[in-house]
Amino acid sequence: MDKIKILAIVGSLRKDSFNKQLALIAKEVIGDRAEFNILDYHNIPMMNEDIERPEPESIRRVRDEVRACDAIWFFTPEYNHFFSGVLKNLLDWLSRQIDEEQPPLLAKKPAAVSGITPGMFGTVLSQDHLVTLLSWLDMDIMNTPRLTIPHALTQLDEEGKLILQKSRKYLERQADAFLNFIQNRMQNK
Ligand code: FNR
Repeated sequence: MDKIKILAIVGSLRKDSFNKQLALIAKEVIGDRAEFNILDYHNIPMMNEDIERPEPESIRRVRDEVRACDAIWFFTPEYNHFFSGVLKNLLDWLSRQIDEEQPPLLAKKPAAVSGITPGMFGTVLSQDHLVTLLSWLDMDIMNTPRLTIPHALTQLDEEGKLILQKSRKYLERQADAFLNFIQNRMQNK
């Protein structure tokens, strides 16, 4: 069997994003058990039906990456008890069918959800909203375990880099569970 391809989608464009750092630690935890790439979508336009056709080049590239992966792992911040606007914009683009012959891009794709915040609720609310949207898009969501990490500032080193002393074991458990989840789905195809 080919190596599983996991695509990480981080809902923050911030350079030092804790969620991006969490995705990078997840990549390390996954190790050589799967390919793990972080989607770069910082330059996609805002959804506007006037520019949907022809497909903008940046959108074609992100759609190709999504089509090629076996599963998507979301790392979401929480903005006003919701997930971010940039992530909603990306998902709006990914939800649209350009070629009616192709199956919907996200439908039945295995998905896992994690998030980290300096706040006290660990992105629970943003994850609940995100799961509602992913479910509408017919993704195959791994509902347990989800990973919600509060108080990010307590898990940094002296330079302010996320090291995840307390939560690493939960990330490891989620990574193991997600790999099993994806393998099961691929075997039953
Ligand atoms: C936030 N933040 C935030 N945090 C939280 O726990 N609950 C919330 O509802 C919000 N709301 C919110 C709104 C907006 C517009 C911003 C910019 C920020 C703080 C947020 O969790 C913090 O900035 C994180 O560091 C963002 O994630 P990244 O960029 O570190 O991944």
